Amino acid sequence: MRGKVALVMGGGAGTGRATVLALAREGAQVVIADIDESGGNESLECLRAQGGEGLFVRADMASAQDIQAVLQRTHDAFGGLHAVSNNAALGTLSKPLTELDEDEWDRCMGVTLRGVWLCMKYQLPLIEASGGGAIVNIASVSGLRGEYFQSAYAAAKGGVIALSKAAAVEYARRGVRVNTVCPGGIRSGGMEFYLDKMPELREKTLNAHAMGRLAEPEEIADAVVYLCSEKSSFVTGHDLVVDGGVLVRSNVIDA
Ligand SMILES: NC(=O)c1ccc[n+]([C@@H]2O[C@H](COP(=O)([O-])OP(=O)(O)OC[C@H]3O[C@@H](n4cnc5c(N)ncnc54)[C@H](O)[C@@H]3O)[C@@H](O)[C@H]2O)c1
Repeated sequence: MRGKVALVMGGGAGTGRATVLALAREGAQVVIADIDESGGNESLECLRAQGGEGLFVRADMASAQDIQAVLQRTHDAFGGLHAVSNNAALGTLSKPLTELDEDEWDRCMGVTLRGVWLCMKYQLPLIEASGGGAIVNIASVSGLRGEYFQSAYAAAKGGVIALSKAAAVEYARRGVRVNTVCPGGIRSGGMEFYLDKMPELREKTLNAHAMGRLAEPEEIADAVVYLCSEKSSFVTGHDLVVDGGVLVRSNVIDA
């Protein structure tokens, strides 16, 4: 990806940081956007430590103004944009859908679904004007099946999957490919925080994966890099499941 400019929304931790570093290893200049200033700056330090070039811009993925500012900085610094991972998301506490309140629903949708739409609304014209490229939206296996007590998050991720297909067909003849990566559990800070709070869920969560473990963030980043690169030049509107066998596993008989 030498000569290409990449952007990772939510690049300040976990999968986002791993994606920043993986894109830079492939030669891209990488813009890191994140709501968390210290995480974003830390990702930038890691990027520079491995010899990469990039910059950090503080931004909330739910804000059109912030997204436009990120794209302006990207254009000013590097002259265009070719590859994006829209990685940030906001979940809710685990609870039955009848117990979710309207604010929780709206906050989750505001970042996880509306935020991805807002990002693409402004990213697509810039990528097209830069000669084309690819967007990878991070969805989840939660968007592909029924998920207990995660109704808002699952609906938002299902929305990201449908939205990405709509963008893929709108831009298929305009030089921009749009795909999703649908991870299973990832060993990121967010997931570790959740499992530390509810240790009774750790073994069940690992066991839900046919491989019996969570993904390393780098394993998700590799899938993002593939979908951003020319190696996937004929792939658009696709949902790449990277889940260690969550969806394929039947829980009826345990090995
Ligand atoms: N962790 C999992 O098990 C898992 C499973 C399936 C899908 N996913 C998805 O993978 C993606 C990455 O997850 P992760 O666990 O690596 O995340 P993480 O919590 O480790 O990091 C997410 C980053 O996004 C940033 N962020 C949060 N809200 C933001 C906002 N409004 N604007 C800008 N930045 C914001 C955070 O500051 C953080 O740096 C998310 O879309 C998540 O829904 C995660």
